[in-house]
Amino acid sequence: MTTSHTPIPGLMRSHHCGELKASDIGRSVTLCGWVNKYRNLGSLHFIDLRDKFGVTQLGFVEFKGNIDELKKCSLESVILAKGIVQARPIEAQNTNMITGEIEVQVTELTILSRSDIDNIPFLPYGAVEATEDLRLKYRYLDLRTKRLQDILQMRSRTMNKIRALLDNENFIEVETPILYKSTPEGARDYIVPSRVHPGEVYALPQSPQTLKQLLMIGGTDKYFQICRCFRDEDLRADRQPEFSQVDIEVSFSTQEYMKNLVEKILKKVFDLSADFKLPMMTYKDAMNVYGCDKPDLRFGLKQMDVTEIFKNSDFATFSTVANGFGLIKAMFVPESLGQFTRKDTDAFIEVVKPHGGKGVAFYKLSKGERTTGIAKFITDEIEKNLFTLSEEKGDGTWLFFADSDHSVAHASADALRRNLAQKLHLIKEEKAFLWVYDFPLLEWSEEAKRFTACHHPFTMPSRDKIDIFMKADYKNANSELRLLTAEAYDVVCNGYEIGGGSIRIFDQAVQDRMFQVLGFSPEETKHQFGFFIEALKYGVPPHGGLAFGLDRLIMILAGTDSIRDVIAFPKTSSASDLMSQAPSSPSSAQLKELHFQWTKTEK
Ligand code: AMO
Repeated sequence: MTTSHTPIPGLMRSHHCGELKASDIGRSVTLCGWVNKYRNLGSLHFIDLRDKFGVTQLGFVEFKGNIDELKKCSLESVILAKGIVQARPIEAQNTNMITGEIEVQVTELTILSRSDIDNIPFLPYGAVEATEDLRLKYRYLDLRTKRLQDILQMRSRTMNKIRALLDNENFIEVETPILYKSTPEGARDYIVPSRVHPGEVYALPQSPQTLKQLLMIGGTDKYFQICRCFRDEDLRADRQPEFSQVDIEVSFSTQEYMKNLVEKILKKVFDLSADFKLPMMTYKDAMNVYGCDKPDLRFGLKQMDVTEIFKNSDFATFSTVANGFGLIKAMFVPESLGQFTRKDTDAFIEVVKPHGGKGVAFYKLSKGERTTGIAKFITDEIEKNLFTLSEEKGDGTWLFFADSDHSVAHASADALRRNLAQKLHLIKEEKAFLWVYDFPLLEWSEEAKRFTACHHPFTMPSRDKIDIFMKADYKNANSELRLLTAEAYDVVCNGYEIGGGSIRIFDQAVQDRMFQVLGFSPEETKHQFGFFIEALKYGVPPHGGLAFGLDRLIMILAGTDSIRDVIAFPKTSSASDLMSQAPSSPSSAQLKELHFQWTKTEK
């Protein structure tokens, strides 16, 4: 029996390529899609027709048209096929495919768009054989792959889930300007010259930070926005110059409120159990135990501060660091987790070098015997003290990271910890979330000879130390200011910082003081943030918020380690768009309109 299909008004097809099943046998259908495969078995011809939903096999036994037309359907051509759903012969059925029990016997075929298969840069299915640069240049072809389509779908669904949840919590989504003024988030600004204001520029927002605070001052109460942020900074596997945030701000909120809200969002996005609670760790503990503020908790390899233990050591390198206010960290790798050859230990230096590390000292303990590396400097007493600090006991390898600069010792230990976790296959299949809090408020920049904000200049100093903040010497690297913490927090998952925020300064005097501490002259503060400081005069609800890095959330959901995989049209690590060739030189007419003098440099 043949039942005719009910076409979807306005769509050329009646079904997509991933849905026809045995229950559709007999149905008359119209499918559209790309030619994924063509097989010519003499008297029998087959096309695998593909769209983003799947693949359907087309047969041509009942085709009345000219069979030679099929040969013009080069791979990747877009065609429209009308026909009847039929059962495949038993031996041709593929139970791994939704559409594997059927085929569509085509009665009518239209080639909608022919593909130049001889020149196509690569075929976008199966294991795509192309370099990343080529795939980025022809991103629209790469986007045809199931992997990228699945990620785009997941991204869109995740955004919908977050929007629905926040709507339910009485948040409203408010759009904020893209052509705006500098928002200090620690990167350089992208600037846009103004045609109507000669010599003046807009800055693209590094985040809508001041705007969302102004929305709170404007009585908006609970704001969110899935927004674009622009930062001119060195790019990494998890950084793009243009990225998306789920940006949130709430009036009269505390850190506890923000943490609860984040738990709700994570539960929804990652499908976590109803009783999920974010584990918490102070910044200080994270640094001491993992050497970084975004520790990957899917594996152990905890670190210990062993500086005291080496103060009287004969090993001059260590005792000098220990007595010179430096830091010595240690990590113990039990034999059961892994053992290292000479080649392995020689390679450790390459892991720590990019972080300023000068080397990794080590020794092995095997059947109670100390061998290799710095073994001769390790006395029974030192070893006993080391094991007092270690949760793991027994045979294994001790690794040491010593530096007069604490941040180098931390960063080296962190880098080798992550490296070993990969090499020794220690990373568990799970999502390990963490709420890191009590961040330092400020850090001293040796280069600029002044303090910089660890989060951003709108972050509230820990309230019990406001007096110190208002009075301490801000021109001195050793000022008490460096000991202050902030009401700032980060959300971490699997070693990625997926979100960060803070409770904000809402008092004008404190905000003014913050700009002073950061080295802004009163004139600079007025020029750059005058409007914002003034707004703090007219009644401000205490408020706080945070922003998730949407791209990083999707990276983790999709199980990829490149942010480029989760953005439809990403940029390379040198901030170029290989497809459109952006950035490109402006035309002389544009330059003239913008009142710009331009010196073109060759690439
Ligand atoms: P922050 O600068 O910590 O805070 O950014 C919030 C989150 O955005 C993500 N992120 C990035 N993702 C991709 N590419 C980048 N270049 C990039 N930079 C940051 C991270 C990060 O955790 N206005 C504050 C938030 C607040 O205080 O409410 C802000 O932007 O996942």
